[in-house]
Amino acid sequence: MKKSLNQKLINIIEYYNLINANFFLSNSPLKRTSKNKNSAFVGSKSEKLHKLKKIISLIKNCDLKKNATNLVFGDGNINSKIMIIGEGPGANEDAQGKPFVGRAGKLLDKMLDSIKLDRTKVYISNVVNYRPPENRRPSDFEINRYLPYLKTHIEIINPKILLLLGSTALNTLIGNHEVISKARGKWIQKEIGTANPWIIASFHPAFLMRQPEQKKLAWIDLKMIREKAKILKI
Ligand code: URA
Repeated sequence: MKKSLNQKLINIIEYYNLINANFFLSNSPLKRTSKNKNSAFVGSKSEKLHKLKKIISLIKNCDLKKNATNLVFGDGNINSKIMIIGEGPGANEDAQGKPFVGRAGKLLDKMLDSIKLDRTKVYISNVVNYRPPENRRPSDFEINRYLPYLKTHIEIINPKILLLLGSTALNTLIGNHEVISKARGKWIQKEIGTANPWIIASFHPAFLMRQPEQKKLAWIDLKMIREKAKILKI
């Protein structure tokens, strides 16, 4: 009993350290325009990612976390200038704690291979970091809860190209009014915190497995990424 109380206290202290308690406990005025709002995230890229992962692991009262086996944070090359965002982990991802390792992941690997990319050359994450039960779409509430983490994740990776796979990633980062079939295959540049990537949306590999005739459009998007990477000298 005593031990678990101590452990709880340690967790609370660790949590407040991670989220930089001074930020809201100090008397000094908040600089809302400051670019450096993620001052809790200091250190090397991998240290920042480690901190972010720790913060997500401490999330409370989350039905996604309650029902999941593992936190699925990210995979690939943290120094890559190409970041890919999916929707949320499925059963295989939940079991292995890694994004896109199931059937959709195999197709994603093939898509990347077609433009000479692989997981050593890109970085992959999801809108939510715990598997939604029955692979349902995460609710708006869940998406909004994880959005600050996703934005910080993008800031830390700081990609030049951001590929959004499917409507959930598109709607989360670009806007709810967008429809994937219309918005795909178009470049927009958008500030996400301190990052300012070129963003393109394309079909989610799970959708392409159900509708393989759409692969020809996904191929157009992939070629656009290949071209952009050339122009940006990635
Ligand atoms: N689908 C996703 O959106 N993300 C994964 O990690 C796996 C499947």
